[in-house]
Amino acid sequence: MDKMVVQGGAQLNGLVKTSGAKNAALPILFATLLAEGEHVFRNVPRLRDIDSTVELLASLGCQSKWDLDTLRVRVKKAGSLEAHYDLVRKMRASILCLGPLLAKYGEAVVSMPGGCAIGTRPIDLHLDGMRALGAEIQLDEGYVKAKAPKLRGATFVFETCTVGGTENLMMAAALAEGTTILENAAKEPEIVDLANYLIAMGARIKGHGTGVITIEGVQTLRPAEYSIMSDRIEAGTLLIAGAMTGGEVTVQRIKPAHIDALVHKMREAGFRIDEDSDSVTVHPTKSWKAVDVTTNPYPLFPTDLQAQYMAMMSLAEGTSVITETVFENRFMHVQELIRLGADITPKTRVAIVRGHRGLKGAPVMATDLRASASLVLAGLVAEGETIVGRIYHLDRGYENLEKKLSALGAKVRRQE
Ligand code: UD1
Repeated sequence: MDKMVVQGGAQLNGLVKTSGAKNAALPILFATLLAEGEHVFRNVPRLRDIDSTVELLASLGCQSKWDLDTLRVRVKKAGSLEAHYDLVRKMRASILCLGPLLAKYGEAVVSMPGGCAIGTRPIDLHLDGMRALGAEIQLDEGYVKAKAPKLRGATFVFETCTVGGTENLMMAAALAEGTTILENAAKEPEIVDLANYLIAMGARIKGHGTGVITIEGVQTLRPAEYSIMSDRIEAGTLLIAGAMTGGEVTVQRIKPAHIDALVHKMREAGFRIDEDSDSVTVHPTKSWKAVDVTTNPYPLFPTDLQAQYMAMMSLAEGTSVITETVFENRFMHVQELIRLGADITPKTRVAIVRGHRGLKGAPVMATDLRASASLVLAGLVAEGETIVGRIYHLDRGYENLEKKLSALGAKVRRQE
């Protein structure tokens, strides 16, 4: 199993380009199931989660071919309508094949995703939404078995704001008969990216990016070409890396508005940050203030940057309170940060971070994707060597992180 070895103390400086967004690419790849033919995507990140999606699509009869960051997906009429447990358990987002398969073929059998390190992550709202569109759903032997000769448009109000639920419903409704209105829909930029691809395929969608999305079902969709949006979570992680090491780092190929909540907090902490049309620069700052954060759905502070932000706050002047409201168990990185010398008291959904200088390198274990990023960030400023184990978590969602950090001057290497 690969490890990341980080030698602390190097200042990061320079320009770094953001890769395509994992969380936009995944639903868009599942959307291909809605239309036979060749779909072409650019700016696709090479990540384990993308490989898992390609594997799942292959099990449903699709052939994919890479050419640098371009991925071509040739979709044929699905031979099987079953997403097997062996594939789904590798990646929870696999549940996103439910909406497209059900809408296109009238049935689907998708394994329940099972447990997850950061919380229970139920799929009840995905299923309630499909039921509202007329699907009959049974849970049997660990599988969701869904049937609907023809989905029918309906109004569905999400009880909780869910990114995946909104995406699944939007894809299902694209081929349903009549109009679907999704209320309390998620507003994440990745929802907008998926909606834009569906529209490129011929779907009729309005209101994406707001809390009410209206989808007028069409009879058929066609494949299209599309460039995936840049990864705002990767961009935020790289910006925090530059900030923590006191360097000057420009993160390129990012819409500044997508990381507004983070930039706002960093400015409040005392960092000088400049924005251009497609880049964000953090300037050298020796010390910064503790600033509280509460995670929430977009456009508020993202849960996917909470762990990295906590690593930065562990060096701040003063005490900050970090509140996680999206997932119930997303403080797994805390004990590992404490192993590096951070002074953090975790409560159920709140962590109290007493900032101080003087983290010291140690072996630590990654527990989930964003937790692993926070440990690498802490390692960049810890004295001596930090060895982050189980970095397969990192490979699920960061493309060439060690190469990007090394190019900025970090002393980071992968050890097999
Ligand atoms: C997506 C992102 C993930 C991010 C999360 C929140 C992808 C592939 N993953 O995950 O990186 O951390 O959004 O921004 O895009 N919930 C229910 N019932 C449901 C569905 C969700 O109660 O049927 C709850 C969840 O337990 C959680 C909250 O809703 O507490 C938000 O989850 P959701 O937005 O669905 O997250 P994902 O789409 O799984």
